[in-house]
Amino acid sequence: MTDLVFIVKPGGALCGHLRVPGDKSISHRAIMFGALAEGTTTITGFLEGEDCLATLRAFRAMGVRIDGPDHGRVIVQGVGLHGLHASAEPLDMGNSGTSMRLMSGLLAGQSFHTVLTGDASLTRRPMRRVTEPLALMGAQIDASERGTAPLRIHGGQHLRGIDYALPVASAQVKSCLLLAGLYAEGMTRVTEPAPTRDHTERMLEGFGYPLRREGDRSVAVMGGGCLTGTAIDVPADISSAAFFLVGASIAPGSDLLLEHVGVNPTRTGVIDILQLMGADIDILNPRLAGGEPVADLRVRSAPLRGIRIPEHLVPLAIDEFPALFIAAACAEGETVLTGAAELRVKESDRIQVMADGLSVLGIAAQPTPDGIVIQGGALAGGTIDSHGDHRIAMSFAMAALRAGGPIRIQDCANVNTSFPGFVALARSGGLAVAESTV
Ligand code: S3P
Repeated sequence: MTDLVFIVKPGGALCGHLRVPGDKSISHRAIMFGALAEGTTTITGFLEGEDCLATLRAFRAMGVRIDGPDHGRVIVQGVGLHGLHASAEPLDMGNSGTSMRLMSGLLAGQSFHTVLTGDASLTRRPMRRVTEPLALMGAQIDASERGTAPLRIHGGQHLRGIDYALPVASAQVKSCLLLAGLYAEGMTRVTEPAPTRDHTERMLEGFGYPLRREGDRSVAVMGGGCLTGTAIDVPADISSAAFFLVGASIAPGSDLLLEHVGVNPTRTGVIDILQLMGADIDILNPRLAGGEPVADLRVRSAPLRGIRIPEHLVPLAIDEFPALFIAAACAEGETVLTGAAELRVKESDRIQVMADGLSVLGIAAQPTPDGIVIQGGALAGGTIDSHGDHRIAMSFAMAALRAGGPIRIQDCANVNTSFPGFVALARSGGLAVAESTV
């Protein structure tokens, strides 16, 4: 098997204007809701990464006509909530936890059977968090003994609404249950231990589906409604912008403008955490695009200091910790993260994999069951194993801006799941990154 390797020369600065690709969470949901709506949905700014393409292909396999993507433009001919057809083949969700967890909810309400599968990483990830509450609603889903995919979803079940308190703060589980709730009799109410991204709620409203928000932690839907096709403008993904926010903060002489970035308050923990560390980030031209807040972000290099990361910010920055750990490694003093055990069940065990990589670069990084303690210091060059985790790969690419020697990162093909064109865009901003296949 060939491996895609990033080789990054040390030093440099990030400057200019960049637009990172579209938001992954919003792109997935735009395809799903567009497919389930009555009428046509036109999506612009769609993320043409492998994860969202897995969602797109799955709906095509269930009989939905989808044109594109063509430069981020996708047209979905909705079939209505009851218009999907069984797929002849299992649906392959690739590396995408969002596809698998959200789709298990909406597929539990269909009249036909479906098998959901994925790659080596996805078939290791915990699925009981969705299969258990779905079973309470009346769904029938078989998983492996360890509660992992492949998931066999038996259609034709009568779903009932439930009132469910999520044991972990997870937008994927919340969204899964809301999607099942569209097919359930009565009300489905989900309460989170802490607020998580609310793109599902915003988009349901955008498609004209009534929704009841109760405070900032509970949301309820009534089954039996209908979605109406609409236009969706997908903003740039703050999770992809995060690598550049960190890179420009740590690289002296940087001055970067990141354009049209989604700044939904349930996603901006990375900005809050970097600002607490002393980062210089301005939020410019705040505006609304299709129900989602958007802004341009100007970031200039600044000396960072280690902090104790407030736990309430963890769900609001859950995908940005690999990048934030690089910021912590370049900060003066100690950074302590707690309350983030979820990082161990992402595309890789992001606490262990980051700690191992930071150690290779000479940084003291002590993993704990639910976080990490990082002592800022001087980074050396070295060879990093990303374990096929896109965000680990891109985070260590940024670390080279402050490293004493080149950084070589292995197993980078999955960068394409969330950030197609990363190498070219990062190079245009000033990162001396090249890719090679070995
Ligand atoms: C996502 C939710 C998050 C996040 C993932 C995308 C979503 O997962 O890590 O990349 O689109 O709902 P959890 O909600 O399980 O933390």
